[in-house]
Amino acid sequence: MTEQQLQRRREELRRNREDRKMMIQRRKRRNRRRAMFCLFVLALTVFLVVGFCHFVEHIVAPKPVAVITDEPIETPLSTGENNLSGNEGYVKENNNRYEAYQSSTGLSDDETIWQVNARLDLELFDAVTHSEDKLNNDILVVVNKYHKVPDDYEPMDLTSNSDGCQLRAATADAFDRMKEAAANEGLSLRAISGYRSVEYQRELYEGYLQSDSRENVDTYSARAGYSEHHTGMAVDVFGSVDGLGEFENTPEYQWVKQHGHEYGFIIRYTAPEETVTGYMDEPWHLRYIGPKDATEMKKQGITTLEEYVGRKGTLE
Ligand code: DAL
Ligand code: ZN
Repeated sequence: MTEQQLQRRREELRRNREDRKMMIQRRKRRNRRRAMFCLFVLALTVFLVVGFCHFVEHIVAPKPVAVITDEPIETPLSTGENNLSGNEGYVKENNNRYEAYQSSTGLSDDETIWQVNARLDLELFDAVTHSEDKLNNDILVVVNKYHKVPDDYEPMDLTSNSDGCQLRAATADAFDRMKEAAANEGLSLRAISGYRSVEYQRELYEGYLQSDSRENVDTYSARAGYSEHHTGMAVDVFGSVDGLGEFENTPEYQWVKQHGHEYGFIIRYTAPEETVTGYMDEPWHLRYIGPKDATEMKKQGITTLEEYVGRKGTLE
């Protein structure tokens, strides 16, 4: 590694740590405000509901008249054996897990199938390791707490984009085209962090552990081998204001939300899906999956790659 690359890496590490600290503080403040607001709404709702019930019970509704009948009470007919095999995305080897998961969660057939396909029925970090071939050739490959990358994996076509950020060729090219389109509208997108080797991810993760608990760190940083950055198809971005935590408040973020799919990018970690992705929302973390699938995801209103791929079949 050249002195210049080392310098970049040190700078990136420092920036990531500072950003992360600032962001966590902002999040805490935001969450406190949200909690207060929710409490207020809850109290108001309880007040209104109790008042309404009182009104109906004492003023509007007549006293009920008991009806005695000999009619047998109807119970729903059993649907018989639970057979999911006709559903899209069904994978025969997962059949027992579908049944166990569905009986413990009560989810619909569709939800059960994609969630089990995404291994959400298993313990965190009970992971399969993707093959090099899959990582290099499956543009929809999912890397998360259940699907990891071999330690020695390096994408076959790493290159630098116009910001000097290491990414796979198609990702770098798409990012530069997106950046240019944004620039034509007076906006500024900059790739800050792309491909990360297992050693680099370990350095980042362990750096956070110096000042935060493992439980917390696991919500915002991937363990070595489990980071999507290792695929070379994930990129963290700055908008017109420097700072990852600032991205959400920039016009660039709004633009990416509206146009990112046209260039093949999705915002990978969004707030309501923390239990699916395993991470708190990261508006700045984009993942390249190609325009066709990114557009389809948007059209279907699916917000996680886990669900999008899981609905088609296995992620393995
Ligand atoms: N911040 C994301 C989850 C990563 O570390 O890959
Ligand atoms: Zn990232």
